[in-house]
Amino acid sequence: MSAALPAGFRKLTTAERREAIRARHPDITDAALGADPDMLELADVMVESAVGYFALPIGIATGFRVDGADYDVPLATEEPSVVAAASYGASVVRRGGGFTTEPGELVTTGQLFVEHAGTAAAERVREAEGRLRAQAHRLVERMEHRGGGWRGMDVAWLPATGLLRVQIHVDARDAMGANVVNSIAEALRPPVEELTGGRVVMAILSNASDRRVTAARFSVKTGTLARAGVAGPEAARRIVLANEIAREDPTRAVTHNKGIMNGITALALATGNDTRALEAAVHSYAARDGSYRALTSYRVADDRLHGSVELPLPLGTVGGATGVHPTSAAALAMLGAPDASTLARVAAGVGLAQNFAALFALVTEGIQQGHMGLHAERIAWMAGARDDERRLVVQAMRDRGRYGVDIASEELARVRSAQPGNGSS
Ligand code: MEV
Repeated sequence: MSAALPAGFRKLTTAERREAIRARHPDITDAALGADPDMLELADVMVESAVGYFALPIGIATGFRVDGADYDVPLATEEPSVVAAASYGASVVRRGGGFTTEPGELVTTGQLFVEHAGTAAAERVREAEGRLRAQAHRLVERMEHRGGGWRGMDVAWLPATGLLRVQIHVDARDAMGANVVNSIAEALRPPVEELTGGRVVMAILSNASDRRVTAARFSVKTGTLARAGVAGPEAARRIVLANEIAREDPTRAVTHNKGIMNGITALALATGNDTRALEAAVHSYAARDGSYRALTSYRVADDRLHGSVELPLPLGTVGGATGVHPTSAAALAMLGAPDASTLARVAAGVGLAQNFAALFALVTEGIQQGHMGLHAERIAWMAGARDDERRLVVQAMRDRGRYGVDIASEELARVRSAQPGNGSS
């Protein structure tokens, strides 16, 4: 175990913190912690005790058509198959005309929980909406100019704790809204306490995001789905069945929905969005009727496979990391500077494409063949193959149909011994 970092570590400069880390772990290189000075300064601005930044691959999932517009979608992910699966799903869906979507509202909800509220408290808070709204005005004024602002309030008693819950709904336009809603919720503490005669235990946004539910759908001719010796209509029937399994069995639904989020979380990360807020919203929505279920639906009608997804997508295109991180700005630029609603619509399409590609592979050839093909690049890298060597080692593993660091090392030795000038020719 390495020695503990010095007291006051957070107060050091980034360079001093890096030195402290390197003093304990001499093998950690500058490159491993990230070496770009601007990015190091940004890291220091973004989090406490920053020592570097984490670089993930960004791949472009190409060929998405969403509501008649074309998108090439930047995805930040560590998983080899995500970009390939999204592009493949998008290409098949495109043949059927692409995705159509129904956007959710851009509403973020804040909650105040009040203890010791008097019996008439709920009514009094409801009647005082105008006053509370006026109190929040200063914080929503800029949003109002852009068509957003206060979107109402609701009040309910929580039976188990006996607390009063006051919810405020705010349209934060292209921002995800966490900061502004938290500020409003906190600003409303004193008037809510005065109205209820109680004490506000806490004031914070709800990540449920249930007014942001966005839907995407597509349909393709079943005849176009022939794959790996399985006829198109049979592949479509199996996709519907695979989805039914994930609607019935929560343990399968977890994996099914994880596959949907493979693409959506990667897009959220690339665009600097809060991936934990997103995942929390999506998985709670999947369990909204008390049982955790698939977020997609599929059916076959008129010789077409119809697929759809419905899920809350709390995403922003301004504010938070989206505003300061250069890679988020680049990702948003690649998407054509979308507003928050467009980003959510594209994200819904990406999630559905990802799920469709996964189910299509699972019910025909399985996913391991494709996965191992992609994984081969990583294995060859781990064995020490670089540049051209990597390509040759990957090809050799593909030809042998065997993948593993030992196989890659064997093939790398073969590649190197075949190089001119090493005495073997
Ligand atoms: C792998 O990251 C995602 C899948 O497991 C999704 C699924 O099983 O539906 C392939």
